[in-house]
Amino acid sequence: MTVHFIGAGPGAPDLITLRGRDRIAACPVCLYAGSLVPTALLAHCPPGAHIVNTAPLSLDQIMDHIIQAHAAGYDVARLHSGDLSVWSALGEQLRALRALGIPFTITPGVPAFAAAAAALESELTLPALGQSLVLTRTPGRASAMPPRETLVAFAQTGATLAIHLSIHNLAQVVADLLPDYGGDCPVAVVWRASWPDERVVRATLDTIVAAVAGTMERTALILVGRVLGATDFAESSLYAADYDRRFRPQHGGESDGAPA
Ligand SMILES: C[S@@+](CC[C@H](N)C(=O)[O-])C[C@H]1O[C@@H](n2cnc3c(N)ncnc32)[C@H](O)[C@@H]1O
Repeated sequence: MTVHFIGAGPGAPDLITLRGRDRIAACPVCLYAGSLVPTALLAHCPPGAHIVNTAPLSLDQIMDHIIQAHAAGYDVARLHSGDLSVWSALGEQLRALRALGIPFTITPGVPAFAAAAAALESELTLPALGQSLVLTRTPGRASAMPPRETLVAFAQTGATLAIHLSIHNLAQVVADLLPDYGGDCPVAVVWRASWPDERVVRATLDTIVAAVAGTMERTALILVGRVLGATDFAESSLYAADYDRRFRPQHGGESDGAPA
């Protein structure tokens, strides 16, 4: 018996990996985080699967379901939204499984920030403008922040920011970022990226609070940085005609024939 953790993607049911889909189809038990995982993915469960929405459950209750499946020899598909590497509560579940000696696998998924970037038709790293992306959040009721991981501190780097779990806190986000990014810095809020009702608001730090005007709750990502909407940036050297690199040598070296 194995617990298969699967990144369910940001919302659109076809934004799951083939491996994730196939693991769902092979598991007689499916535990899914119903607050964000699209229920359309449950159509991949085999007929008669035992399907549980874990949104209202505690960790102990979730573990009870897994222990019961383990005793019965049933594999479990465990679905979390986006990817499992950020804000998925994977860590505590893995710790509990390791303590119980229950095997598991992890299948990554499309994270929300990638779906938001796609909605914005933007690359989040551009030459000279932005080469770092900070995935972060502001403090929440259930989660304190490590003291040095503040927006004010991240702002000093000027990096592109993808701020999760914070749309209710938008005015404070703006106040923290204004001194370093400036009022004209582009901001985008993407609500329910990849869902049919996806919405995008583009503005600047000076105008974003009024532009959103409290119309977006919960499942929204705040992206901040000069890369957003930039058109006047240098091209990457990687594809420059005279750039010498392993797959496209310019000085008579051998190429392995791989496409650039
Ligand atoms: C608990 S975290 C889950 C993050 C997820 N594990 C991931 O890989 O993106 C939930 C937060 O992610 C962001 N989020 C998740 N899905 C989203 C979507 N489809 N569109 C915009 N933001 C999303 C929101 O900031 C939301 O508050």
